[in-house]
Amino acid sequence: MLDFQAILENIQKNATEAPDKGAVATYIPELAHVSKDNFGIHLRTSDGKSYGAGDFNKPFSIQSISKVLALSKAMSLIGENIWKRMDVEPSGHPFNQLALLEIENGIPRNPFINSGAIVIADILLSNLENPKEDFLNYVRDLTNDQTIEYNQAVADSEKRTGFKNYAAANLLKSFKNLDNPVNDVLDFYFQQCSLEMTCSQLTKTFSFLANKGICMLDKVRLTETQAKRINAIMLTCGFYDEAGEFAFEVGLPGKSGVGGGIVALLPDNFTIATWSPGLNKKGNSKLGMLALEAFTTKTKLSIF
Ligand code: DON
Repeated sequence: MLDFQAILENIQKNATEAPDKGAVATYIPELAHVSKDNFGIHLRTSDGKSYGAGDFNKPFSIQSISKVLALSKAMSLIGENIWKRMDVEPSGHPFNQLALLEIENGIPRNPFINSGAIVIADILLSNLENPKEDFLNYVRDLTNDQTIEYNQAVADSEKRTGFKNYAAANLLKSFKNLDNPVNDVLDFYFQQCSLEMTCSQLTKTFSFLANKGICMLDKVRLTETQAKRINAIMLTCGFYDEAGEFAFEVGLPGKSGVGGGIVALLPDNFTIATWSPGLNKKGNSKLGMLALEAFTTKTKLSIF
């Protein structure tokens, strides 16, 4: 029998002692204040057990991890029509790269790079009555936790400094791949990215993707096929130009955020989340990736 608690505590100990913890994102000023010494890891198994070590109950900015939840909501609203406006191919480039978007005539490579997520935000804006409120309630229902909130200071901070996102949205608009005004779409997108959650909440939220689309209390569901597709996109595109590296080292579908969070899952088995704010050069949590590599190596629990 695997002693999950001991494995997580060992991973946390190694992370605490790591000489190089990466660098905290500073392009969103509000994220620059977060200490690199935070480290949390939480595991939730499909048979209902959970294990945690370190700061797994401390909220942090989930940033791009929210793109998975936005995609899931958009899929439940307009289904396959999403793929008329973006592709499902890895980009092999950073999350905020613009060149490919122009070369490919405003069709983002996938829903997890920023341009793709901005198109998803446009879809939500067009299809939800009260977009910010409805999306927050969707995440709360998925997690069965009504305490989840946006962080307004983080959203406002990115609104003032998210120049590349303004550039991406304007490019999308010029190619007629945004229906709503640029500022409205970005206002929603920045709000979505400012969601704050703990590792423990994240393992709950994402359990629907490990459970064929059915969330914990069955308040929200996707079809089994939709869940399969989201997991496939996480595996191939969840870490931008490091998606290959994550599959190679960890072997699970997952998604990172510049707040230093990572969530990953093994279908029918578990969800796992890590938080370590220091990033590597590709914008993914440095110690989070090492922690997940250690976890799947020690437990031999991965898709490969
Ligand atoms: O749009 C941005 O740049 C941020 N709100 C989210 C980027 C992000 O989290 C990339 N992930 N590693």
